[in-house]
Amino acid sequence: MKITLTIDGKPSEATIDPGECLMDVLRRLGHTSVKNGCDRGDCGSCAVLLDGRAVNACLVFAAQLDGAAITTVEGLEGPGGLHPLQFTALDGGAVQCGFCTPGILMTALDLLTDHPDPTEAEVRRALAGSYCRCTGYVKPVAAILTAAALLRDGRRD
Ligand code: FES
Ligand code: FES
Repeated sequence: MKITLTIDGKPSEATIDPGECLMDVLRRLGHTSVKNGCDRGDCGSCAVLLDGRAVNACLVFAAQLDGAAITTVEGLEGPGGLHPLQFTALDGGAVQCGFCTPGILMTALDLLTDHPDPTEAEVRRALAGSYCRCTGYVKPVAAILTAAALLRDGRRD
């Protein structure tokens, strides 16, 4: 079957198997920032925005998504450069192997949509479903708090 999606602002058409998950479709279309860490909803590395909210793309059937808008970390960069979440992750040493980073940034973006001034505890709670084997979470959490401050100051990218 065929579905149409808007991925990072661009229209896209995909021929999919009825049981295929969004993660596999996105990766097949070349969006390899969407990582497969567990294939069963445990690690958060495949998180993307689906119509503006974070989902684990390995848990969503692509067949349900005809007409949906998907945002991956590849769509965060704007005309002025990196999104604050990307910039602070890199600048703050929050990226080591980087496997978890796309999912963490999309999860953080979802959090900041509703909580533009989150506490550290709220950031940590939001990342409860995101596994990072490298950083111990200290720097990712700090980077997200710094990005939130930049966004509140009106810096989009
Ligand atoms: S690959 Fe989707 S949550 Fe782990
Ligand atoms: S930076 Fe390696 S898993 Fe998070």
